[in-house]
Amino acid sequence: MDEMNIPASVAIIMDGNGRWAKKRGLPRSFGHKEGCKALEALIPEAGRIGIKYLTVYAFSTENWKRSQEEVSALMDLFRYYAGRLLKKAEENNVRITFIGDRTRFPEDIVASIEKLETKTSGNTGLRFVVAANYGGRDEIRRAAVRFAEAYAAGNIPEECISDGTGRFPEGELTEAGFASFLDTAGIPDPDLIIRTSGELRLSNFLTWQSAYSEIVITDRLWPDFNAEELLRCIEEYNGRNRRFGGV
Ligand code: IPE
Ligand code: IPE
Ligand code: MG
Repeated sequence: MDEMNIPASVAIIMDGNGRWAKKRGLPRSFGHKEGCKALEALIPEAGRIGIKYLTVYAFSTENWKRSQEEVSALMDLFRYYAGRLLKKAEENNVRITFIGDRTRFPEDIVASIEKLETKTSGNTGLRFVVAANYGGRDEIRRAAVRFAEAYAAGNIPEECISDGTGRFPEGELTEAGFASFLDTAGIPDPDLIIRTSGELRLSNFLTWQSAYSEIVITDRLWPDFNAEELLRCIEEYNGRNRRFGGV
Protein backbone atom coordinates (compact mmCIF):
# COMPACT_ATOMS: atom_id res chain seq x y z
CA MET A 1 0.00 0.00 0.00
CA ASP A 2 2.91 2.37 0.72
CA GLU A 3 3.94 2.58 -2.93
CA MET A 4 0.38 2.92 -4.23
CA ASN A 5 -0.95 6.14 -5.66
CA ILE A 6 -4.26 6.63 -3.87
CA PRO A 7 -6.81 8.43 -6.05
CA ALA A 8 -8.18 11.51 -4.28
CA SER A 9 -11.68 11.14 -5.71
CA VAL A 10 -13.30 7.72 -5.96
CA ALA A 11 -16.89 6.95 -6.98
CA ILE A 12 -18.67 3.63 -6.63
CA ILE A 13 -21.70 2.20 -8.40
CA MET A 14 -22.92 -0.09 -5.64
CA ASP A 15 -24.61 -2.76 -7.72
CA GLY A 16 -25.65 -6.37 -7.15
CA ASN A 17 -27.70 -6.25 -3.95
CA GLY A 18 -30.64 -7.98 -5.59
CA ARG A 19 -28.52 -10.78 -7.03
CA TRP A 20 -26.78 -11.24 -3.67
CA ALA A 21 -30.17 -11.86 -2.05
CA LYS A 22 -31.47 -14.00 -4.91
CA LYS A 23 -28.48 -16.34 -4.66
CA ARG A 24 -29.50 -16.98 -1.06
CA GLY A 25 -33.22 -17.33 -1.80
CA LEU A 26 -33.96 -14.12 0.12
CA PRO A 27 -36.09 -11.10 -0.83
CA ARG A 28 -34.21 -8.27 -2.62
CA SER A 29 -34.57 -6.00 0.41
CA PHE A 30 -32.22 -8.30 2.36
CA GLY A 31 -29.57 -7.58 -0.24
CA HIS A 32 -30.09 -3.85 0.21
CA LYS A 33 -29.74 -4.23 3.96
CA GLU A 34 -26.46 -6.10 3.58
CA GLY A 35 -25.39 -3.46 1.07
CA CYS A 36 -25.95 -0.74 3.67
CA LYS A 37 -23.79 -2.69 6.14
CA ALA A 38 -21.01 -2.97 3.57
CA LEU A 39 -21.15 0.77 2.94
CA GLU A 40 -21.17 1.62 6.62
CA ALA A 41 -18.03 -0.44 7.15
CA LEU A 42 -16.28 1.05 4.13
CA ILE A 43 -16.62 4.74 5.03
CA PRO A 44 -13.95 4.89 7.77
CA GLU A 45 -11.69 2.57 5.73
CA ALA A 46 -11.85 4.85 2.70
CA GLY A 47 -10.66 7.77 4.82
CA ARG A 48 -7.91 5.66 6.38
CA ILE A 49 -6.66 4.58 2.94
CA GLY A 50 -6.27 8.27 2.04
CA ILE A 51 -9.24 8.84 -0.26
CA LYS A 52 -10.46 12.45 0.06
CA TYR A 53 -13.80 12.22 -1.78
CA LEU A 54 -15.94 9.10 -1.88
CA THR A 55 -19.12 9.30 -3.98
CA VAL A 56 -21.59 6.43 -3.95
CA TYR A 57 -24.56 5.77 -6.21
CA ALA A 58 -27.37 4.90 -3.82
CA PHE A 59 -30.54 5.48 -5.88
CA SER A 60 -30.91 6.53 -9.51
CA THR A 61 -33.60 8.59 -11.20
CA GLU A 62 -34.54 5.33 -12.97
CA ASN A 63 -34.80 3.24 -9.79
CA TRP A 64 -38.36 4.54 -9.19
CA LYS A 65 -39.36 2.01 -11.88
CA ARG A 66 -38.90 -0.80 -9.35
CA SER A 67 -41.82 -2.28 -7.45
CA GLN A 68 -43.43 -0.06 -4.85
CA GLU A 69 -42.45 -2.67 -2.28
CA GLU A 70 -38.76 -2.42 -3.15
CA VAL A 71 -38.78 1.39 -3.34
CA SER A 72 -40.43 1.70 0.05
CA ALA A 73 -38.03 -0.86 1.55
CA LEU A 74 -35.16 1.33 0.29
CA MET A 75 -36.74 4.46 1.84
CA ASP A 76 -37.17 2.65 5.16
CA LEU A 77 -33.56 1.50 5.06
CA PHE A 78 -32.47 5.08 4.54
CA ARG A 79 -34.59 6.15 7.52
CA TYR A 80 -32.88 3.52 9.65
CA TYR A 81 -29.36 4.14 8.42
CA ALA A 82 -29.48 7.96 8.55
CA GLY A 83 -28.93 7.95 12.31
CA ARG A 84 -26.13 5.40 12.12
CA LEU A 85 -24.53 7.35 9.30
CA LEU A 86 -24.54 10.55 11.33
CA LYS A 87 -22.85 8.76 14.22
CA LYS A 88 -20.24 7.22 11.86
CA ALA A 89 -19.59 10.61 10.30
CA GLU A 90 -19.17 12.30 13.67
CA GLU A 91 -16.79 9.61 14.93
CA ASN A 92 -14.68 9.77 11.77
CA ASN A 93 -14.70 13.51 10.96
CA VAL A 94 -16.63 12.79 7.75
CA ARG A 95 -18.53 15.51 5.89
CA ILE A 96 -21.68 14.26 4.14
CA THR A 97 -23.15 15.81 0.98
CA PHE A 98 -26.06 14.59 -1.15
CA ILE A 99 -26.30 15.02 -4.92
CA GLY A 100 -29.40 14.38 -7.00
CA ASP A 101 -32.90 15.83 -6.87
CA ARG A 102 -33.95 15.40 -3.25
CA THR A 103 -37.28 17.19 -3.79
CA ARG A 104 -38.91 13.95 -4.98
CA PHE A 105 -38.34 12.22 -1.63
CA PRO A 106 -40.87 12.23 1.23
CA GLU A 107 -40.53 15.25 3.54
CA ASP A 108 -39.01 13.36 6.46
CA ILE A 109 -36.27 12.04 4.20
CA VAL A 110 -35.51 15.52 2.85
CA ALA A 111 -35.27 16.75 6.45
CA SER A 112 -32.97 13.88 7.32
CA ILE A 113 -30.71 14.63 4.33
CA GLU A 114 -30.50 18.26 5.40
CA LYS A 115 -29.67 17.24 8.94
CA LEU A 116 -26.84 14.95 7.79
CA GLU A 117 -25.37 17.76 5.69
CA THR A 118 -25.73 20.52 8.26
CA LYS A 119 -24.46 18.54 11.23
CA THR A 120 -21.36 17.36 9.38
CA SER A 121 -20.62 20.54 7.40
CA GLY A 122 -17.69 21.47 9.65
CA ASN A 123 -15.98 18.07 9.41
CA THR A 124 -12.63 18.14 7.63
CA GLY A 125 -11.90 14.47 6.91
CA LEU A 126 -13.36 12.35 4.13
CA ARG A 127 -16.03 14.05 2.01
CA PHE A 128 -18.71 11.42 1.59
CA VAL A 129 -21.08 12.15 -1.29
CA VAL A 130 -24.33 10.21 -1.66
CA ALA A 131 -26.07 10.19 -5.04
CA ALA A 132 -29.78 9.80 -4.27
CA ASN A 133 -32.49 10.26 -6.88
CA TYR A 134 -29.47 11.07 -9.00
CA GLY A 135 -29.20 10.86 -12.77
CA GLY A 136 -26.37 12.42 -14.76
CA ARG A 137 -28.70 13.75 -17.43
CA ASP A 138 -31.13 15.09 -14.86
CA GLU A 139 -28.26 16.84 -13.07
CA ILE A 140 -27.12 18.52 -16.31
CA ARG A 141 -30.71 19.50 -17.12
CA ARG A 142 -31.20 21.02 -13.65
CA ALA A 143 -27.84 22.83 -13.94
CA ALA A 144 -28.97 24.36 -17.26
CA VAL A 145 -32.17 25.58 -15.60
CA ARG A 146 -30.23 27.07 -12.67
CA PHE A 147 -27.89 28.77 -15.09
CA ALA A 148 -30.77 30.25 -17.08
CA GLU A 149 -32.44 31.52 -13.91
CA ALA A 150 -29.22 33.05 -12.63
CA TYR A 151 -28.58 34.66 -16.00
CA ALA A 152 -32.06 36.14 -16.16
CA ALA A 153 -31.52 37.59 -12.68
CA GLY A 154 -28.08 38.95 -13.65
CA ASN A 155 -26.43 36.68 -11.08
CA ILE A 156 -23.81 34.81 -13.08
CA PRO A 157 -20.49 34.80 -11.21
CA GLU A 158 -18.03 36.73 -13.37
CA GLU A 159 -15.50 33.90 -13.42
CA CYS A 160 -18.04 31.67 -15.24
CA ILE A 161 -17.78 33.73 -18.42
CA SER A 162 -14.48 33.72 -20.28
CA ASP A 163 -13.94 37.47 -20.33
CA GLY A 164 -15.17 38.06 -16.80
CA THR A 165 -18.16 40.18 -17.82
CA GLY A 166 -20.75 37.68 -16.62
CA ARG A 167 -22.62 38.42 -19.87
CA PHE A 168 -23.18 37.14 -23.40
CA PRO A 169 -22.19 37.71 -26.13
CA GLU A 170 -19.17 39.53 -24.69
CA GLY A 171 -17.75 36.35 -23.23
CA GLU A 172 -18.59 32.65 -23.41
CA LEU A 173 -19.54 30.19 -20.72
CA THR A 174 -16.51 28.14 -19.62
CA GLU A 175 -16.63 24.42 -18.75
CA ALA A 176 -15.63 25.18 -15.17
CA GLY A 177 -18.29 27.89 -15.12
CA PHE A 178 -21.01 25.46 -16.18
CA ALA A 179 -19.72 22.78 -13.77
CA SER A 180 -20.22 25.23 -10.90
CA PHE A 181 -23.99 24.85 -11.50
CA LEU A 182 -23.87 21.05 -11.18
CA ASP A 183 -24.74 19.30 -7.92
CA THR A 184 -21.06 18.34 -7.62
CA ALA A 185 -19.80 21.96 -7.54
CA GLY A 186 -16.62 21.94 -5.47
CA ILE A 187 -16.20 18.16 -5.64
CA PRO A 188 -13.37 17.00 -7.95
CA ASP A 189 -14.24 14.69 -10.84
CA PRO A 190 -13.70 11.03 -9.93
CA ASP A 191 -10.24 9.70 -10.74
CA LEU A 192 -11.61 6.21 -10.40
CA ILE A 193 -15.12 4.82 -10.82
CA ILE A 194 -15.69 1.32 -9.50
CA ARG A 195 -18.72 -0.74 -10.47
CA THR A 196 -19.53 -3.94 -8.62
CA SER A 197 -21.44 -6.97 -9.90
CA GLY A 198 -19.69 -7.12 -13.27
CA GLU A 199 -21.95 -4.83 -15.31
CA LEU A 200 -20.08 -2.87 -17.99
CA ARG A 201 -22.01 0.42 -17.99
CA LEU A 202 -22.34 3.68 -16.09
CA SER A 203 -26.16 3.70 -15.80
CA ASN A 204 -26.49 7.51 -15.82
CA PHE A 205 -23.87 8.04 -13.09
CA LEU A 206 -21.72 11.20 -13.12
CA THR A 207 -22.26 11.74 -16.85
CA TRP A 208 -20.42 15.07 -16.98
CA GLN A 209 -17.81 14.26 -14.34
CA SER A 210 -16.76 10.83 -15.69
CA ALA A 211 -15.24 12.25 -18.90
CA TYR A 212 -11.71 11.13 -17.95
CA SER A 213 -12.33 8.76 -15.06
CA GLU A 214 -10.66 5.37 -15.03
CA ILE A 215 -13.24 2.61 -14.72
CA VAL A 216 -12.69 -0.60 -12.78
CA ILE A 217 -15.32 -3.32 -12.84
CA THR A 218 -15.33 -6.01 -10.20
CA ASP A 219 -17.47 -9.15 -10.26
CA ARG A 220 -18.04 -8.90 -6.52
CA LEU A 221 -21.63 -8.15 -5.58
CA TRP A 222 -21.93 -4.97 -3.52
CA PRO A 223 -22.74 -6.64 -0.14
CA ASP A 224 -19.44 -8.57 -0.48
CA PHE A 225 -17.38 -5.47 -1.20
CA ASN A 226 -14.88 -4.38 1.47
CA ALA A 227 -11.67 -2.41 2.05
CA GLU A 228 -9.52 -5.24 0.74
CA GLU A 229 -11.42 -5.28 -2.56
CA LEU A 230 -11.26 -1.47 -2.68
CA LEU A 231 -7.47 -1.69 -2.44
CA ARG A 232 -7.43 -4.30 -5.19
CA CYS A 233 -9.42 -1.94 -7.43
CA ILE A 234 -6.98 0.87 -6.59
CA GLU A 235 -4.11 -1.44 -7.51
CA GLU A 236 -5.74 -2.02 -10.91
CA TYR A 237 -6.14 1.76 -11.24
CA ASN A 238 -2.42 2.13 -10.52
CA GLY A 239 -1.66 0.08 -13.62
CA ARG A 240 -3.50 2.53 -15.87
CA ASN A 241 -1.85 5.20 -17.97
CA ARG A 242 -3.98 8.34 -17.78
CA ARG A 243 -3.39 10.51 -20.82
CA PHE A 244 -6.26 13.03 -20.79
CA GLY A 245 -6.04 13.25 -24.56
CA GLY A 246 -2.27 13.80 -24.57
CA VAL A 247 0.39 11.27 -25.44
C1 IPE B 1 -27.95 -1.87 -6.36
O1 IPE B 1 -28.31 -3.20 -6.37
C2 IPE B 1 -28.78 -1.05 -5.39
C3 IPE B 1 -29.73 -0.13 -6.03
C4 IPE B 1 -29.84 0.10 -7.30
C5 IPE B 1 -30.63 0.61 -5.15
P1 IPE B 1 -29.48 -3.74 -7.31
O2 IPE B 1 -30.75 -3.65 -6.54
O3 IPE B 1 -29.46 -3.05 -8.61
O4 IPE B 1 -29.06 -5.26 -7.47
P2 IPE B 1 -29.18 -6.16 -8.77
O5 IPE B 1 -28.46 -5.41 -9.87
O6 IPE B 1 -30.62 -6.32 -9.06
O7 IPE B 1 -28.48 -7.42 -8.42
C1 IPE C 1 -27.28 1.67 -10.89
O1 IPE C 1 -27.65 0.35 -10.75
C2 IPE C 1 -27.90 2.47 -9.78
C3 IPE C 1 -27.35 2.24 -8.44
C4 IPE C 1 -26.39 1.43 -8.14
C5 IPE C 1 -27.97 2.99 -7.38
P1 IPE C 1 -28.91 -0.28 -11.53
O2 IPE C 1 -28.98 -1.69 -11.10
O3 IPE C 1 -30.09 0.57 -11.31
O4 IPE C 1 -28.45 -0.15 -13.06
P2 IPE C 1 -28.92 -0.98 -14.33
O5 IPE C 1 -30.40 -0.92 -14.37
O6 IPE C 1 -28.40 -2.38 -14.18
O7 IPE C 1 -28.25 -0.28 -15.47
MG1 MG D 1 -28.52 -3.45 -10.37
